[in-house]
Amino acid sequence: MAPTAVIVVAAGSGTRLARPEPKAFVPLAGRSILQHCLDGVAGAAPAQLVVVVPPSHLGHAQELLGGSAAVVPGGATRQLSVAAGLAAVGDDIDIVLVHDAARALAPAALFERVIAEVRRSGAGVVPGLPLVDTIKSIAFEGSGADGLVAGTLDRSALRAVQTPQGFPCAALRAAYAIADRDFTDDAALYAAAGHPVRVIEGDPRAFKITTGADLRRAETALGAGRPTVRTGIGIDAHAFDDSVPLWLGGLSWPGEPGLAGHSDGDAISHAICDALLSAAGLGDLGQRFGTADERYSGARGEVFIAETLALIAGAGYRVGNVSVQVIAVRPRIAARRAELEDRLSALVGAPVSVSATTSDGLGATGRGEGLCAVATALIFAE
Ligand code: CTP
Ligand code: MG
Repeated sequence: MAPTAVIVVAAGSGTRLARPEPKAFVPLAGRSILQHCLDGVAGAAPAQLVVVVPPSHLGHAQELLGGSAAVVPGGATRQLSVAAGLAAVGDDIDIVLVHDAARALAPAALFERVIAEVRRSGAGVVPGLPLVDTIKSIAFEGSGADGLVAGTLDRSALRAVQTPQGFPCAALRAAYAIADRDFTDDAALYAAAGHPVRVIEGDPRAFKITTGADLRRAETALGAGRPTVRTGIGIDAHAFDDSVPLWLGGLSWPGEPGLAGHSDGDAISHAICDALLSAAGLGDLGQRFGTADERYSGARGEVFIAETLALIAGAGYRVGNVSVQVIAVRPRIAARRAELEDRLSALVGAPVSVSATTSDGLGATGRGEGLCAVATALIFAE
């Protein structure tokens, strides 16, 4: 039987997922997206496995895969990454499949059906799913999303195409060798070289993880769905500094001693950010907005809150509510509590309650050396 190779392209950065690590290395139910993807590949038992990873993750991937795969560095585009993978495919291989690591839950049976159809037909083969929405072509106005509907396509003649895509290996190599532009998938590149491509029935489980919501869909499919409600905690403390103005809870406090810090020292805003990040499992303020970053030097609390909210939304969450407690002898929070709550609720886009206490003379806050804020946050999966 014709020996088969599978190229898994995992060299993308995952811009839309917006995690610190490249997409294939983002955790999914306790393992990486790449590891889940390799489960499906292994089930199809290819003669050769080639995994294309970001150059920064070569060593990590080699360690992960041991000797079971050729690990090669990817390129700046998916097409260049596939080309790098193809260069590592053995000369004895007759059929090659190209698969997105981001389609982490594609089952082994889908690989097997693609291989079987390439073998049977000698054509390129793509899995495709029927479309459920009515599809319109649009004459757009400028660069906006609005425009005039130009027509309605016959959706029964359309398929949304997935990976793995399978090809006779020599023909795919030749097609790559003459490709003169960027194609959106391997089948388009293959067809442009004059070769036939067939479609077979796709599998909904082979959906591509692109956004935070897709990651949650994958977790749910694995029976490890994140709870729909999560809580987080954040604590921040700063020392008083008479030489700077006080900014606290997004408000200016004339006449009060300010708080020392790389930013404006707004401990309430910082504690809120840490609580939100912790609720979403996105690390903490120091990790996300390091003191080395000049953009945050002297930055107001509202800047951190806005950026944190963007991260939370990107991970597929919305904020339920936030509670903050200030531990300090000054300023007197009670006098401006309603104002603080209004300001912070507007910044967070959800109810924020503020309370305050002293520490009964104990410790640095008790001696009036600084101020501490503790926040909890509740967030919901969208
Ligand atoms: N890919 C790759 N090399 C690139 C770009 C993408 O190997 N230079 C891979 C990705 O790792 C992914 C697959 O191609 O498995 C599909 O790409 P996509 O879903 O767009 O992933 P990313 O490019 O990483 O994500 P984004 O577009 O959001 O940055
Ligand atoms: Mg991409």
